[in-house]
Amino acid sequence: MANSNLSENTADIKNQEKYTSRVRTILEKMPFAPKYYIATFGCQQNEADSERLSGTAQSLGYVKAENLEDADLIIFNTCAVREHAELRALSKTGQLKHLKEKNKNLLIGLWGCMVSQEKRVEDIKHKYPYVDFVAGTNMLHRLPEILCDCLENDRRRYYVDELDYSIVEGVPVEREDKIKAYVSIMYGCDNFCTYCVVPYVRGRERSRKKEDILNEVRSLVSDGYKEITLLGQNVNSYGKKGEENCDFATLVEEICKIDGDFTLRFMTSHPKDVSDRLIEVIKNNPKVERHFHLPVQSGSTRILKEMNRKYSREGYLETVKKLKSAIPDIVLTTDIIVGFPGETNEDFEETLSLVKEVGYDSVFSFIYSPRPGTPASKMEDDTGDGEKTERMSKLLSLHRENITAINKSYVGKTVRVLCEKGADEKGFFTGRTSGFKLVKFQSQKGDIIGKYVDVKIDSFGESLLRGKTE
Ligand code: 5AD
Ligand code: SF4
Repeated sequence: MANSNLSENTADIKNQEKYTSRVRTILEKMPFAPKYYIATFGCQQNEADSERLSGTAQSLGYVKAENLEDADLIIFNTCAVREHAELRALSKTGQLKHLKEKNKNLLIGLWGCMVSQEKRVEDIKHKYPYVDFVAGTNMLHRLPEILCDCLENDRRRYYVDELDYSIVEGVPVEREDKIKAYVSIMYGCDNFCTYCVVPYVRGRERSRKKEDILNEVRSLVSDGYKEITLLGQNVNSYGKKGEENCDFATLVEEICKIDGDFTLRFMTSHPKDVSDRLIEVIKNNPKVERHFHLPVQSGSTRILKEMNRKYSREGYLETVKKLKSAIPDIVLTTDIIVGFPGETNEDFEETLSLVKEVGYDSVFSFIYSPRPGTPASKMEDDTGDGEKTERMSKLLSLHRENITAINKSYVGKTVRVLCEKGADEKGFFTGRTSGFKLVKFQSQKGDIIGKYVDVKIDSFGESLLRGKTE
């Protein structure tokens, strides 16, 4: 079965070759090399997808544009997780109309989660007639075919209902960074949290083959990448469907066996799938960074049940306890939804007390945004917007208190930092600790970008530590 899938997928990407050469022929006739511009909205998975769109555009003969105005191909890779993200993408799309009037050759495409929803595609058909193509997340390998059709036939293309959820390997990739690289290990989600649109726009959960992942990591390490981040909506359910006879803990273990000077991160994990063995594997493998992003969403067991999260407050706190006792220097971060339908003040107080108890390093908090087609969007919600905003600011100020105490405890200590960016205008380099804490620091050392340095912390802000190399 697995083999027949592989050959189908290979055929799929092979099938694009004829479109690639037809597009190249058209583009080569242009007086200047055409330029592309890709803007990414939303999560790291979208960033990883955009790197593939970018790689494909380059394989077709496009070169990267420095800004939107210079581009002959513009793709917005969109997000649908909250309404705000959709409205931003639509408003930016509105601003493209005048570019199309200036450059008749310009092709405009909307990609990804937002346009995997039929209703949004209908909106675009009617309100944004200058958009040339829309394509959902599962069309990633078919950009050559889409562009070929636009260029040869001068017609608009809408790919919303072609739900082919196989995994296609071999799509060209142009990575944004030379130090850190994303590696997707699984796609889609089967959890159906009641507020979340992801299972509807990214489809059923499926895992990449272990060998494909190992090969990608090996080649990144040999290219000098220092930090690999494994990506998926729910990384720790990797291989759950038995595709590989390998679970996430084993995958992490196997990746750590690859020779080379690199470290490993992963996101996002679901609290219900944090196994004891995964905790052991992290503990025993120094290549795995000491950061665990563990979205709790709410501290109230009643709301967690309404959210279909499949764990209780107590279960979550138990996992946190196990993590902290096995790996004392683990840094925890989380996502929280404020104002889920039916959330009472008491429920919210439970979220506050959980946040206080865990002591997160970062809390990504969001006011609940109803997503069409999800079960929660049909639930009664009688909490006013004002009340929700007030809860949000209470959460933020509690987190501020927590993080001030946490960051203060770093002052005078020396932390190991991977230097990611050169000195800014004030002479500060940027890097991250193993726990993913942002550090701005001064250094007299020479070429440190992409290298690990020891930084002595002397002060801190709300979201960063400051110091000097020793
Ligand atoms: N409204 C608000 N926040 C949401 N998230 C997912 N769906 C919604 C929604 N409908 C948040 C969750 C998730 C993060 C990526 O986005 O906290 O972990
Ligand atoms: Fe959405 Fe829940 Fe899946 Fe995360 S686990 S992508 S929140 S449905």
